[in-house]
Amino acid sequence: MTAPQTDVRPDSTAPDATDGATGARVTLHPDFRRGAVDRRLFGSFVEHLGRAVYTGIFEPGHPAADEHGFRRDVADLVQELGAGMVRYPGGNFVSNYVWEDAVGPVEQRKPFLDLAWRTVEPNLVGTDEFLQWAEREGVEPMMAVNLGTRGVAAAAALVEYCNGEAGTRWADLRIANGREKPYGVTLWCLGNEMDGPWQIGQKDAHEYGKLAAEAGKAMKLVDPSISLIVCGSSSMQMPTFGEWERTVLSYTYDLVDHISMHAYYEEVGGDRASFLASGTAMDRFIDRVVASADAVGAERRSDKAITISFDEWNVWYNTTRFGGEENLPIQRDAPRIIEDVYSGLDAVVVGDLMVTLLNHADRVPVACLAQLVNVIAPIMTSPGGEAWRQPTFHPFATTSRLARGTALDVRVDAPTYDTAQHGAAPVVTAAATVDDDGSLGLFLTNRSDRVVEVELAHVGAALGLTEGWQMVADHEPAVEGPEHAAKVAEACWSVVDVAAAASPVEGGTTRVRLAPESWTAFAGTFARA
Ligand code: AHR
Repeated sequence: MTAPQTDVRPDSTAPDATDGATGARVTLHPDFRRGAVDRRLFGSFVEHLGRAVYTGIFEPGHPAADEHGFRRDVADLVQELGAGMVRYPGGNFVSNYVWEDAVGPVEQRKPFLDLAWRTVEPNLVGTDEFLQWAEREGVEPMMAVNLGTRGVAAAAALVEYCNGEAGTRWADLRIANGREKPYGVTLWCLGNEMDGPWQIGQKDAHEYGKLAAEAGKAMKLVDPSISLIVCGSSSMQMPTFGEWERTVLSYTYDLVDHISMHAYYEEVGGDRASFLASGTAMDRFIDRVVASADAVGAERRSDKAITISFDEWNVWYNTTRFGGEENLPIQRDAPRIIEDVYSGLDAVVVGDLMVTLLNHADRVPVACLAQLVNVIAPIMTSPGGEAWRQPTFHPFATTSRLARGTALDVRVDAPTYDTAQHGAAPVVTAAATVDDDGSLGLFLTNRSDRVVEVELAHVGAALGLTEGWQMVADHEPAVEGPEHAAKVAEACWSVVDVAAAASPVEGGTTRVRLAPESWTAFAGTFARA
């Protein structure tokens, strides 16, 4: 997309991230619960874009390729990342995609021109190859259907191809292509960013709402067990934001389970303070979409709550580094497109965005870090060579590993600072999860440029912090390659000396010191005596 992704408040004061950042209080209580943490909150996204598929997850002939042509080194990093769900095949790509051209004997498949990214798609990887990779890796697939250039019949046919039992046309085609057992894909996106002028086959809210309702109806007639995601606005900055949600849900409320949200954040013009407060912008965006959905439900006197599929989120230097898809030349052979190289600062923001997602666990069960490999991704590869972790890999993997069970309703009492883009934002953010066995995941961000002492009040249960990890922001310009990633990791990512960083004080309180511009995760226990 090319629309700006920031929450612009032209009349706000100049940022000063240091104002009042001396202390904060965070309170945990085992009975204050936000909601269950759905494993699908730690999803990611593989689009046929640049090198996400070709020389990303798939590279036959690579020394680490398996017998299917998929890179084992990349798959191992996907496992370590803890991305338990992956969206496919787009993104903008899906809005011009003919899925039938990418199934069956590979040698009979014809390349086609993808108009979203102006790239010749060789169709070597299609629905079967992706779904079988996901199955081998134990990753849940989330599929998107083309509601840009196609419609009801193609969408229903794809559900039948994926989930149908033998004896009908599309299911039998799957079986003829070598796959007897249905894939049982549960999550389905009804198109992608259909409000965006960059989308092939863009629609207004009424056109899209009607089409989504008809396509969704047919897809559910094929397989009533599926869950549907209707497209929300492409960002909060879209001129039709709010009205779009209201209109598309007026057509689809009873049919769909989730409405999608997409948001990308970047540092613009050296405004570090606003960038560090991206989680606050995400927080407000979620509240507004939930309010829009609930307003439609209230008008209908419905007891059903539509939840959010935040199926694209990340740091992306979209307006500052990417020249726009319309300016791309037509390319082939897996060109390098939007391969952002991330810094420690970007990783702190990613960690903080995950704090926001956890704090909305009651209404956001599904989310996808966009994307997984090479394209604005935590995992990078060189063709024929290494695969490595970007700095953003670490907060995602750590949160996915530690955030289990239930997200607590954490109370944060922290000073705020002014930002040019988001107005007042808290200096400290926090999220916490507790599993049935009492294991705790605690996540804290310090957005200010000085040390913050957090009074961690733990009421109703005994707290033990056993391990910790910390990402600190850097001021180094991002440089491409595994050496840079290793350098950033060495400089910015570290194991926390828990005894030095967290000291118990009287009355059920622990004092935690947070480094300037940092994101910290603690593992521990939070159990009633
Ligand atoms: O993730 C990159 C692109 O961003 C996706 O294709 C599109 O949905 C969004 O605009």
